Amino acid sequence: MTIQSMNELFHHELQDIYYAENQIAKSLSEMMDQATDAALVDNFEHHLEDTHEQIKRLEQVFRALGQSPKGVTCQAILGLIEESQETLREIEDERVRDAAILASAQAMERYEITRYGTLVAWADQLGRTIGADQTALGGLEIVDLLQLTLDEEKNQDSRLTALAESRINRLAA
Ligand SMILES: [Fe+2]
Repeated sequence: MTIQSMNELFHHELQDIYYAENQIAKSLSEMMDQATDAALVDNFEHHLEDTHEQIKRLEQVFRALGQSPKGVTCQAILGLIEESQETLREIEDERVRDAAILASAQAMERYEITRYGTLVAWADQLGRTIGADQTALGGLEIVDLLQLTLDEEKNQDSRLTALAESRINRLAA
């Protein structure tokens, strides 16, 4: 399928992150089973709940655009997940494994931050400049939904940094 406009590019990115979020939900529950540190497992549990909300939020965005929610394969997230699982298979020490799990989760988080950052900027631009399409795009409403998720991802990134520095990396080392 060729992408012929900024609106279509936006829609394509939306499908990409929708696919990625669903993969991340699966990967988070797998990593939750593999992790041993209680604080890390607890963090994943909370973020898994957030992730399910974020998926629903994306479905709201699709509906606001008059589209049915559908993903397109996101090679980037598949690559991150595969690389993470490959590394985890090689690690025997559970403390070291926890540090690797946290780092993988954070890499996925940062991928999401870059994608949602772009989507917020594009939704804002499209909502502001394309008069007739503004209603079709849902304007600010869509920006707000995406911004909410972007803020959650940034908070999760900070929580993971704090957890790594205060505990997980120290225990692993
Ligand atoms: Fe997410």
